[in-house]
Amino acid sequence: MAFPSVGTHRATPSVSTYRHLGAFDPLAPGADSLQCIPPVVAAAGTSHTPQGGIVRVAIVYDSRTGTTKAAAEEMAQMAVAAGHESTAVAVQAASSADVSAADAVCIGSWTEGLFFILQHATKATMEFIDSLSLDGTPAVVFCTYKTSPGKMLDKMASALEARGARVTGSFRSRGRQAPDGFAGWLDSL
Ligand SMILES: Cc1cc2nc3c(=O)[nH]c(=O)nc-3n(C[C@H](O)[C@H](O)[C@H](O)COP(=O)(O)O)c2cc1C
Repeated sequence: MAFPSVGTHRATPSVSTYRHLGAFDPLAPGADSLQCIPPVVAAAGTSHTPQGGIVRVAIVYDSRTGTTKAAAEEMAQMAVAAGHESTAVAVQAASSADVSAADAVCIGSWTEGLFFILQHATKATMEFIDSLSLDGTPAVVFCTYKTSPGKMLDKMASALEARGARVTGSFRSRGRQAPDGFAGWLDSL
């Protein structure tokens, strides 16, 4: 049976909201015909207990040249395809309160460093993590990189856990695609 494929496009250049209205296959013909809906997903509710079976997955990313943004947007589409609601928001536009209220949280950064040493997430990413107030919320950290992300994902995870998250995934991508392992994490929600 064919279901309507409705994702979204981004409501602003830095906010992409996705709502599940049926099976979504990003590879299907017409899958890039995305419908705009208001960026309300992460703003609704304050409980981490999904209501009506819908899990609200907030995805926040920092991207300098678009790679991490593309990966985050594919992650949001995958979340929708898995039956959840998801918003991918640039860290510069993200609301701490909205993200803190989501059922699940994904925070991603491009890798900044000297390519083989001293890798770290961006300042904006770490400041955003420090602004969150979470209460056992399942969370993942992710990054895009070229050579090696070093220990940056561990540091992001520690910072998120210090804010109350339950970090259950840590993913890296060498390009614009969603990181390997993310689909499995979605299955765990
Ligand atoms: C100033 C600078 C420093 C970087 N340092 C690293 C690094 O230490 N390790 C690494 O793997 N990639 C490094 N990169 C590569 C980026 O992390 C990578 O290209 C990333 O995917 C870019 O994401 P974006 O397009 O979302 O900005 C660096 C890039 C820049 C511009």
